[in-house]
Amino acid sequence: MRVLVVGSGGREHALASAIGASPRCGELHAAPGNPGIALIATCHPVKADDVEGLVALARDIEADLVVVGPEAPLVAGLADELRRIGIPVFGPNAAAARVEGSKAFTKQLLEAAGVDTAEAFTVTDLAGARIAIQRLDGRCVVKADGLAAGKGVIVCDDAAEAEAAAAELLGGSLGEAGRVLVVEERMDGPELSVLALCDGERAVALPSARDYKRIGEGGTGPNTGGMGAISPAPGVSDEEARAIVETVHKPILRELMNRGVRFSGCLYAGLMLTATGPRVLEFNVRFGDPETEAVLPRLGEDLLPWLLACATGDLEEREIATIPGSAVTVVLASRGYPASSESGVPILGVPEAGAERDAIVFHAGTAVQDGALVTAGGRVLAVTARGADRAAAIAAAYAAADRIRFDGLQRRADIGSESQG
Ligand code: AMP
Ligand code: GLY
Repeated sequence: MRVLVVGSGGREHALASAIGASPRCGELHAAPGNPGIALIATCHPVKADDVEGLVALARDIEADLVVVGPEAPLVAGLADELRRIGIPVFGPNAAAARVEGSKAFTKQLLEAAGVDTAEAFTVTDLAGARIAIQRLDGRCVVKADGLAAGKGVIVCDDAAEAEAAAAELLGGSLGEAGRVLVVEERMDGPELSVLALCDGERAVALPSARDYKRIGEGGTGPNTGGMGAISPAPGVSDEEARAIVETVHKPILRELMNRGVRFSGCLYAGLMLTATGPRVLEFNVRFGDPETEAVLPRLGEDLLPWLLACATGDLEEREIATIPGSAVTVVLASRGYPASSESGVPILGVPEAGAERDAIVFHAGTAVQDGALVTAGGRVLAVTARGADRAAAIAAAYAAADRIRFDGLQRRADIGSESQG
């Protein structure tokens, strides 16, 4: 088979590694890929948001399967276009990608499907926001309806903070994304990511994971794209992840089907483990990053047939084999992240880190300049290691990460711990 992976981050490097390892993968292509992916695939200089360019590329190389990493091209209709010309694609059509693209739509969907989530109000002006904030006693979360690259969610302690957040978003701080707001009940508890492979009707759970989202240890400081991950999430068994797919993912697939929408691809549920049980925070319509870098190395079988089955609508509903133990991913970020990033800084030690026992180095924001590997973004590398248990995986991931050096390197020291993400 000839497979095209769309995207350029650590998630896509993890996907490309898993797909490239399949005996059924004859040729692996990526667009645009990154220097790590370039070692295992043919990279094409087509950006991940260039829907027309990607469709033309998939047609030119006669792809048998396109696997889409990021959400933006899905929301923009890449999967629709590929299906229209008969190319199987792992990733939902634009109508199904609204599950990530609009928080207001998703709240309504959750309610209709009877899935447990925070109480919420959708508002379009400050007067409406004030009423919602009062009803929730001020302690609430204000969310921009549209895609906002992780900047559209403001967790508030009181009414004054919530009103200020609503005023800023409605005032256009995030442009169109904040014209509609969801104001919702603030929940408490550790977070959990449950990713499921879906073909529209059926869903199969991947091992659970936790993402460590804040820049600082103990879950402090600004939100980032994710500073690390562990699979399984501490205290959550793979059986529990499977149970969540029954009570969350499958009702959502059914509710979408009732509306004539088929979700094919990875449905990612972000949940909070509250005192009353798991409740949904959000959905993503793609693999998580950096969860994917921790989850895929735990798979005990070939990923490619599963992705193809999702694309062609004949997913087999059985447990996917997993490697026992844990996998931990430590993200190495550049100076200034998440507010800014530094490019062109030389990176040393990647081959040595990859040679450590049970370790894999995924490239996220790297480039090659004059033959040398340099930084090219906020999240630079994601270092994953497996271990027989959580402690062993943490030790192995940090032993590998310790080999990598670049000026301004930032990382968290508590990835894999039970601390808040
Ligand atoms: P989201 O993009 O909706 O997942 O929100 C990003 C982060 O904001 C989540 O990972 C949570 O840490 C936090 N968050 C979102 N919604 C809530 C909520 N209802 N209660 C508490 N924290 C939340
Ligand atoms: N790890 C969070 C995300 O992929 O959105």
